[in-house]
Amino acid sequence: MPPEQADIDRAVALLQAGELVAFPTETVYGLAADAANPLAVRRIFAAKGRPADHPLIVHLAGGGCLDRWARDIPASAWELAEAFWPGPLTLILKRAGAVPTAVTGGQDSVGVRVPAHPVALALLRAYAEAGGGLGGMCGLAAPSANRFGRISPTDAAHVREELGNSVSLVLDGGRCQVGIESTILDLTRDDGEPPRLLRPGRVTPEQIAAVIGVLPETATPQADDGAPRVSGSLAAHYAPATPLRLVASARLAGLVDELRQAGRRSAILCHSELPGGVATPAVRKLAADPRGYARALYAALRELDQMAVDLIVVEDVPATRAWAAVADRLRRAAVGAGQKQDPARSRH
Ligand code: TXA
Ligand code: MG
Repeated sequence: MPPEQADIDRAVALLQAGELVAFPTETVYGLAADAANPLAVRRIFAAKGRPADHPLIVHLAGGGCLDRWARDIPASAWELAEAFWPGPLTLILKRAGAVPTAVTGGQDSVGVRVPAHPVALALLRAYAEAGGGLGGMCGLAAPSANRFGRISPTDAAHVREELGNSVSLVLDGGRCQVGIESTILDLTRDDGEPPRLLRPGRVTPEQIAAVIGVLPETATPQADDGAPRVSGSLAAHYAPATPLRLVASARLAGLVDELRQAGRRSAILCHSELPGGVATPAVRKLAADPRGYARALYAALRELDQMAVDLIVVEDVPATRAWAAVADRLRRAAVGAGQKQDPARSRH
């Protein structure tokens, strides 16, 4: 059931009171709090089990309130906002003086975006009309509404599975259309240096270059030491509890067969036609195009994770630019997956 005005009003009242509300965006569901209220923001970290030095993205109803959150905003930020907002692009900018450190994880920058989901926009606009929270800042801090390190929710039911009673209200906006988290672009570098892509997403480096005339640099993944600039940049992330292995298409059938002979149950996530005779009841076939694949990826991983198999075998995706964001999420899922041991690996 899509939320009605009364649900939006209730969400606004909760947020003003410093409570948490989960809401849909076009990418994944977010867990929101008044971004100007440090106590409310701390509740987000507690609900997610997330380390406090991880900065959060501030969601706005439009670019109009950007200068409450950021200072020295470069022309390229306005151009990108014009081109991609509302939409799945987060800009990292120098933070304005009024921004609480709870939101920025102590950094001198702040992440902002305007989400393109009608429920998200209705919530953000109603929130602004009701005064916009502490100091009238009109920003909602919202990480993905999952426990830290786990698969992001793309459906209201996933949020309830992940967070249960620690969230006061879940606004149900149906399935998220993009399905993976926003592209993150760091615009805080010195003049003359290209912006840096911190997380790949639906908005591609080529699309960014078409607007600002410069191709972003791609950040190298960081090690687990110190405060990460992007928690999604930790090697292990977006992970199911079941071990997960990425294998080349040609190796898929052989591996599943070996596992079966060893008495191990596996589930398959693929995007191409499986050769005849692959014997496993647990197969999810996703679209062979990156957008369709991304949209269904996290829900499929959740389903396979609940099948009580020993290993999730994922057919690797093409090594092309169009698949870069999906490939990024699959690699991190493979690193973070599996409180149980990977049975295929332990045999070799
Ligand atoms: O699509 C999305 O971006 C979703 C929806 C809910 O908007 N949100 C999301 O939030 O993915 P989260 O917290 O799961 O991931 C946001 C990432 C974090 O890994 C964080 O480190 C990074 O954005 N981030 C936020 N502020 C930053 C900053 N000032 N500098 C560098 N990275 C930042
Ligand atoms: Mg997240």
